[in-house]
Amino acid sequence: MSQELYDAPNSFIQNANIDKATYEAMQTAALLEPDVFWAQQAERLTWFKPWTQVFTGDFSTGEINWFTGGELNVAYNCIDRHLAQCAQKTAVIWEAENGEQKTFTYQMLYDEVCAAAAMLRSLTVKKGDRVIIYLPMIPQLMFTVLACARIGAVHSVVFAGFSAESLHLRIKDCTPKLIITADGGYRRGQQFAVKKQVDQALDAINIAHVLVVKRTGQEIFWQSGRDLWWHEQKDNVDLNLGIHAEIMSAEDPLFILYTSGSTGKPKGILHTTAGYLLGAHISFYYIMDYKPTDIYWCTADIGWITGHTYLVYGPLSHGATTLLFEGVPNYPDPGRFWQIIDKYQVSVFYSAPTVIRMLMREGDEWVKKYQRLSLRLLGTVGEPINPEAWRWYYDVIGEKRCPIVDTWWQTETGSIMISPLPSCWPQKPGSATRPFFGAKPVLLDEAGQLLTGEATGYLCLAQAWPSMLRGVYGDKTAFYQLYLSKFPHYYLTGDKARRDKEGDYWIIGRSDDVMNVAGHRIGSAEVENALVAYPLITEAAVVCVPDPIKGEAIYAFATLQKDVTPTAQSAKEACEWVAMEIGKFAQPSYIQWTNALPKTRSGKIMRRLLRKIAAGEYTDLGDISTLADPAVVELLISESKSVYKSK
Ligand code: PRX
Repeated sequence: MSQELYDAPNSFIQNANIDKATYEAMQTAALLEPDVFWAQQAERLTWFKPWTQVFTGDFSTGEINWFTGGELNVAYNCIDRHLAQCAQKTAVIWEAENGEQKTFTYQMLYDEVCAAAAMLRSLTVKKGDRVIIYLPMIPQLMFTVLACARIGAVHSVVFAGFSAESLHLRIKDCTPKLIITADGGYRRGQQFAVKKQVDQALDAINIAHVLVVKRTGQEIFWQSGRDLWWHEQKDNVDLNLGIHAEIMSAEDPLFILYTSGSTGKPKGILHTTAGYLLGAHISFYYIMDYKPTDIYWCTADIGWITGHTYLVYGPLSHGATTLLFEGVPNYPDPGRFWQIIDKYQVSVFYSAPTVIRMLMREGDEWVKKYQRLSLRLLGTVGEPINPEAWRWYYDVIGEKRCPIVDTWWQTETGSIMISPLPSCWPQKPGSATRPFFGAKPVLLDEAGQLLTGEATGYLCLAQAWPSMLRGVYGDKTAFYQLYLSKFPHYYLTGDKARRDKEGDYWIIGRSDDVMNVAGHRIGSAEVENALVAYPLITEAAVVCVPDPIKGEAIYAFATLQKDVTPTAQSAKEACEWVAMEIGKFAQPSYIQWTNALPKTRSGKIMRRLLRKIAAGEYTDLGDISTLADPAVVELLISESKSVYKSK
């Protein structure tokens, strides 16, 4: 058990937004008197009309309402309310892939968002309509997200690394009125196609309009009448149309964001207006220790929840300066992130363990080339950070000067739930430590019994919090079924965690069939579905194995059709197929062709056995007496010697 403790430097503690006593008083209030606590916190937002009731609902029904009767607008909170004081402050710094830059003041952001809102309105998008945004990391991505919030349209951002097929599923599920995309994007100095995926995704789907941003100028298919250029629309639209910020009820939907679960189909997680914004707002203030002079950089793509909450809504709701980066960490060289930090004097940097590990491998020279003196706080999210990577982040990147916040949360929680507050208690490498306001983590055993003291179990949350999901889009029963039914009265996170004797939490990983590959959440069933859709494959089972960079890597076992010879070429093609079906990030790293999968007598695939074999652990295979054919074990072990490894 690690006793390694890191205290924040005194200078950090003295200037921090919170101290230990305040944390304790606030967290006690949040848990014991949530209505009083959250009513006070909600005063930080700008309301058109105050709420009449702070919270109603409970976990036994899945009916959750925060700030009933209240009215506000998220974009107004993120832009308009800062204009009186901060119109000329930089809101967004955009660093393009090729090193060019653009900065937008709050006034410019207001103008751009109003223009985008006017375009949406002119295309008859109105409150409650869904809009799918499929854009690379360009400023229009930020503008359109905020424009939707401004007019009350429900945005669903789809990460531009998702395939046409994944986009197709999302379009079918949320039936958007409009899709916003770009002709293409830039990655590693090369252009990639974006609009092409939209064209494919719209196969057999009618949609009135696709709004296209010209980013690369590459040649694209154009369906006249349907497809419209962003710049042409912007030139022609009545800009006054965008000015009015729609009055939204606290519980009106703000966005849908698809994420993976144990089933083959991604779930459209629904977040609503007031509670989500409040969660983003206060967690950003305390955990990122926000100061008006900060230059803040969250490296996540806006297509994921981290980008929503900590690149867009959290920072902008405070009038912060937030950086939007189009490129990747190791192009043109592995010093890119540190060069950007110096270029803009970034003070707070929030990234992912997988990125840290990847850059750690490249050696310290790339880091040492730059000063990084502006940095004062570092963060990570998305997967457990191994202590070795933590220490490198701390020692080399932050030069022992910058505390690290290892933040645990999920698409569903909307904002950070467990995280160090370095001015209140010491950091422990690999531990997300303690709950943030309103989060009441508990550990349960398989039977649903509460575990006390030092323990390992299912991580659940025992109390409702404002930024929690309100449901799964288009499926009324899914929220209750998936999150609240396994252990009545508890929200099931799907993670396993350990609590140490000081009460600090250590996230172990998922307890369900969800994988976490390079911080990306992918359901085993999704990858299996993609594999069996490959013409030569009859059956597939997917597990993950530890990976030094990605944290976890996908290992697929698949059976081929009769008379098909297993080859490395067909394995390579099957990997590419998955990339095409879901996205490159979901591609298996290993494919093991097998003659049979290990099934129990009742026909269930024994995944724990596959996990062992994939990890090369051939002894201590656990109870295999329920296997229909025990001989399959030897077969799988011998076949594993010739596993295909993708590059
Ligand atoms: O398993 C946990 C892991 O990421 C899952 C949530 O994934 P997603 O909804 O895509 O959101 C990721 C960004 C918030 C969790 O169930 N996870 C997230 N943060 C951490 C983590 N695992 C360990 N430590 C973390 N700090």
